[in-house]
Amino acid sequence: MKQVTVIGSLNIDYVTSVESLPAPGETVVAERFDLYRGGKGANQALAAARQDCKVVLFGAVGSDEEGAAYRSALKLTGIGITHVRTVPGQTGAAFITVDRTGENTITIAAGANLKLRKSDITRHRDAVEAGSVLLAQFEIPAPALVEAAIIANEAGIPVIINPSPTNPVFPWERFRTDYAIVNETEAHEILGFPPSLTEQALVRDMMHQLRIANLIVTRGADETLVFRREGEPLSIPTLPVLPIDTVGAGDAFAGCFAARLAQGESLTDALRAANCAGALATLGAGAQDSIPDRERVDQHLVYLSTPNHQYS
Ligand code: RIB
Repeated sequence: MKQVTVIGSLNIDYVTSVESLPAPGETVVAERFDLYRGGKGANQALAAARQDCKVVLFGAVGSDEEGAAYRSALKLTGIGITHVRTVPGQTGAAFITVDRTGENTITIAAGANLKLRKSDITRHRDAVEAGSVLLAQFEIPAPALVEAAIIANEAGIPVIINPSPTNPVFPWERFRTDYAIVNETEAHEILGFPPSLTEQALVRDMMHQLRIANLIVTRGADETLVFRREGEPLSIPTLPVLPIDTVGAGDAFAGCFAARLAQGESLTDALRAANCAGALATLGAGAQDSIPDRERVDQHLVYLSTPNHQYS
């Protein structure tokens, strides 16, 4: 079984559902309140595991009850958590508000996630080297991420970065990124301008500076665009859905993409599956419960190009 190595965050998600998101200074009364396990690292690890990959996760939880409960829950998923440290203090928390259209806002209290160190990776470089791909996001300290990416580069393992939330001072030039996965807002923040097919030379120039080989731009209900340093751009259709909750949809996409790539699928096939996983993940509440498994993704691949068909 191919291994996806994930380095990333683990959070408890405190989710309120409201009719419409509060404006600055406004107080709104929630229709419901739920607690879920989340964090981009754990969500993406789970998404890869649900595509039938072996998954090894590097991360940190706190020494509180939430951290212990999170570890026990992860054990049941089969994800390798030997490299998830328990550190003194609080487990990471995400305060999420979701409105009736499925739109959301998220505030993170990073807690234990900030205690993942470069040496946690260096000491276990063999675990990174055993992977078929490395997948990371930006809710953990950059030195740990950079260390993992350099080890992967040296071992010839593809590096997939989901730079969310964006970090204006992230040292992209320290390693080669094979695939960066961003939404349109993140793409704008990273490049300094909105990516467009009419400005390919500009996009390629920035990708060269940032050492990104493929820039994958997810666009909600619209096709996913891929800008490539070598080769023409790609446009990959997605499933038309009526979203209930978009929290974690990007994680379902990234984890599925990493798994499919590790399993040897072409870039186009891996992206088609990832688009399905991301869209299907918006049909249920909570970041992790709604992540689809391989069978469900495969069942829906056939509908990718069906015009005017909505899933709900
Ligand atoms: O991408 C969704 C995730 O972002 C949530 O689970 C939350 O924990 C934040 O990390």
